[in-house]
Formats: sequence, C-alpha cells, structure tokens
Amino acid sequence: MMETTMTKKLGATLALLALSTAALAQNYPTRPITWIVPFAAGGPTDALARNIADRVGRDLGQPVLIENQAGAGGTIGAGKAAKAAPDGYTFLVGHMGYMAAAPSLYKKLSYDPVKDFEGVFRFPDTPLVLLVGANSKFKTVQDLVAFASANPGKLNFGNAGVGSTSHLVAAMFAQQARIKVTPVSYKGAGPALTDVMGGQVDGMFDQTNTALPQVKGGKVIAIAQTAKQHVPQFPNVPTVAETVVPNFEASTWYGLYAPKGTPKDVIARNYAAFAKAIADTEFAKKLADQGIQLLPDAAYKPAALNQHTAAEVAKWKTVITAADIKLD
Ligand code: MLT
Repeated sequence: MMETTMTKKLGATLALLALSTAALAQNYPTRPITWIVPFAAGGPTDALARNIADRVGRDLGQPVLIENQAGAGGTIGAGKAAKAAPDGYTFLVGHMGYMAAAPSLYKKLSYDPVKDFEGVFRFPDTPLVLLVGANSKFKTVQDLVAFASANPGKLNFGNAGVGSTSHLVAAMFAQQARIKVTPVSYKGAGPALTDVMGGQVDGMFDQTNTALPQVKGGKVIAIAQTAKQHVPQFPNVPTVAETVVPNFEASTWYGLYAPKGTPKDVIARNYAAFAKAIADTEFAKKLADQGIQLLPDAAYKPAALNQHTAAEVAKWKTVITAADIKLD
C-alpha cells in the first residue's frame, strides 16, 4: 500500500511523542511534586503522607509537597486529583474510604476510583484504636456498648467525614455490636480528636499513628483496638474482637494514585523511590513504632494496588449495604 504523506507525518509525530515521553521519564522529575491529602493537616492521613513523601522526595531529588484539600470524607480532594494533568507532578494519597467505599455512599461522585486513577504504590496499613476523653465515664469498651445499648443514638462518635475510615469503622462497629451511635463529621480526624479530648463528642476510632502520642500524653484513653493481633504499642488495650464483637477487624489501607494516563515510566520511578524507602530498616521501624503495619513487599507494587482497589470497591459495596451505612 502506498504510504501517503499523511501516514509518514503521523508516523514521525508518534515517534517524536515516544521519544519525548522517554526523555520526560529519563529527566523526571525536574520540579517539585504535589501529593493531594484530602483531609485537614494533623490527621493520620496527613501524618503518614508527610513521613513517606519526605523519603520519596529525597530519592527523586525533588521536594514532594503536601496539599491538604479537605471535605466530604476525602472525595473533594480525590475529585481534584482525578482531573489533574497526568504528567507525574500531581498525585493523590488515597485510602479505603474515598477510593473504595465512596462509590457506594455518594450518589454523585466526580470520579471513578478505578477508571480515573493508576495505582503507584500501596502504603503500609494503619490499624485503629477506639478513643474516649481522659475524663470520659466510659472506662472500658464494654461500658460504652452497655450505655449505647440502653440509650440508642445517645452516643456520638467523631469522624473525618462521610466515608472516612473513622466513619466507616464506627458504622461497622455499631452494626456488629448491635448499637446505634450518632456520627459527627469533621474535616479530618485531627479536628475530631480535638473534640474527643474536649468532651464535645464521646469518642472516635482514630488511627494508631496519631492516636499514640495523644494516649501517651494522657489526653485520651484507648479502650479498644481494631486489629486482630495486638498492636505492640498498645499492649494493654483489648481488641474489639476479644471483647464485644467476635472476629471484628479493621485497618486503614492507603495508596498513592496518579491520574489515569500518567506515563508508566513515571509511575515506575515513583514506585522505585518508595520501594527503596520501605526497604530501609530504620525508616520501616519508624513507621512500625507508630503502630503502622508493614506489608509483604509484593503488596506495595502498582499492579497489586490496582487489584486491591478494584476488590475493595466490590467489598465495601457489600459491607455498606449490609450495615445500611448512609450519608450523615
Ligand atoms: C479518616 O478518618 O479517614 C482519615 O484518616 C482522617 C484523617 O486522616 O484526617
């Protein structure tokens, strides 16, 4: 078939595009990178993201800047990230709430967690503890459940917005403990925790990395933990499973996501920077000492995160229907 001038031009353009993409990846990154954290600063997502961003930025040779975009349980920030240029300079710190439960909670979601994103790498998991204020009348999780059983709806739990981990885990807990609690939404777990300390709300499920210093400081008391195995940093805190809800288990899973269309080389470069960081025993121990649960290396890979996200979207659809979890 005669090659037309147009075909030759198209071929040349595609070749140039391929070269420029390869050149991009080779020199990438040439400027600071932004990670969108869709909760207020000071919460567990923000804290974990900053820990990892610092190490990834060092390996990439450019600062990784955290941009807090709070609201609607993380779905506002996720929607912004989905529309960002797929150029390797904007990523989303995603978690099980707005990247897996949200499609079953929000009727109008401005993004699709699977179709609009590429997994870059999974973070280690963060178990949670049930916190009450230092002067709370609830000294044990059994006390709290007994009160809630006798006073349906009177107990209120702070959370970081509809579909946040603190919201989902509290809803699962209430459903499985057969109690009714009233959710109170904030722009992040940080502001919610402040109100637990002040007694404005009765309690909340918060992640270990931000709960630990507050428990150590005596401002809140952990009366239960959600991991099946005791987190070493909370040796005397019973698990929910061994006290009020047999087989109860919950942890927050996280991942870094790029807008769909981000070059594969760029994703590979960011994954490589994380893999190097998590392989550093000192860095891994720094996370583990916060009660964060390290995963097998294979679980951190981009393809593993993509598979996990799709599986979790399906899982949470079942959980939300069964628990009849609704928008606040
Ligand atoms: C959540 O509860 O989903 C988040 O961890 C909240 C936060 O990080 O502020």
